[in-house]
Amino acid sequence: MSFPIVRMRRLRRSEPLRRLVRETHLRRDDLVLPLFAVEGRGVREPVASMPGVCRLSADQIAEEAKAVADLGIPAVILFGIPAAKDARGSGADDPDGVVQRAVAAAKRAAPELVVMTDVCLCEYTDHGHCGLLDGDEVANDPSLARLAATALSHARAGADVVAPSDMMDGRVAAIRAALDGAGFASVPIVAYAAKFASAFYGPFREAAESTPAFGDRRGYQMDPPNQREALREMALDLAEGADVLMVKPALPYLDVLAEAKRRFDVPLAAYHVSGEYAMLMAAAERGWIDGPRAMAETLLSIKRAGADLILTYAAKDVAARLPA
Ligand code: PBG
Repeated sequence: MSFPIVRMRRLRRSEPLRRLVRETHLRRDDLVLPLFAVEGRGVREPVASMPGVCRLSADQIAEEAKAVADLGIPAVILFGIPAAKDARGSGADDPDGVVQRAVAAAKRAAPELVVMTDVCLCEYTDHGHCGLLDGDEVANDPSLARLAATALSHARAGADVVAPSDMMDGRVAAIRAALDGAGFASVPIVAYAAKFASAFYGPFREAAESTPAFGDRRGYQMDPPNQREALREMALDLAEGADVLMVKPALPYLDVLAEAKRRFDVPLAAYHVSGEYAMLMAAAERGWIDGPRAMAETLLSIKRAGADLILTYAAKDVAARLPA
């Protein structure tokens, strides 16, 4: 059957009709807001390349956690930016560290909010790489114990979920073993499984002061052209005990997300990263696009491709615009 019997426009004639046949919905329940924790009190420092995003001290993280929960957003993910850095990233697993205190503050302020933490060393090392160095190389196996200790310290501080983003081989298994051995068997792991060496992390590195002092991350993060390798990374993280698998960035890797949805029966997360956010905000600031509409359409495309959870800096704005 075809035209004139078939007329695709019939079901597009009115908003109520369109609502009836709409296939995908963006919901508050899909959203996770990333937050940057810094030292101090009363600090709300805007990040220049990410309009609407601030670096927050623990007391402000608490305020933000409450606001996020009030908007009906189920989760935040915390990144810590310590005052001091060293070669082994000592601040990463400090029980009194910047992210550990932020976690505790967020949980006190909004006990029902899911507080996730990003587990990585790059914000804590003076060289800015995601693991320990051996000469100019990022040494895989020696980094695992540091990452496991970091995840464990986050769980001890009250984190509900830990999310390793370092891309060392074997880190999910190392973290699972450390958590289970210390009584945190019920803390899930969201693995940044298919994390690509991307140009879209630029604004984040400004916010987190985590630009590598030399070289780049291509020796551990994935090569952008590789889809099959990404699916293998995801299968491996699943086998090591990941509860949720993430694809990052989101928009340039929707093919990976769609294929992962077909293959894996676990929840999938997608990170709409800093550069993706910055592009939209910059174009909207210039009046070149309708910012809120473009953002909603973008996040919807990520959902349609297969994401169950979407990490986005626009979570609050988007949630505020969704119907109640
Ligand atoms: C840390 C980490 C990064 C991001 C999340 N965790 C930066 C990187 O790998 O360089 C990027 C997030 C974003 O750009 O919004 N390893």
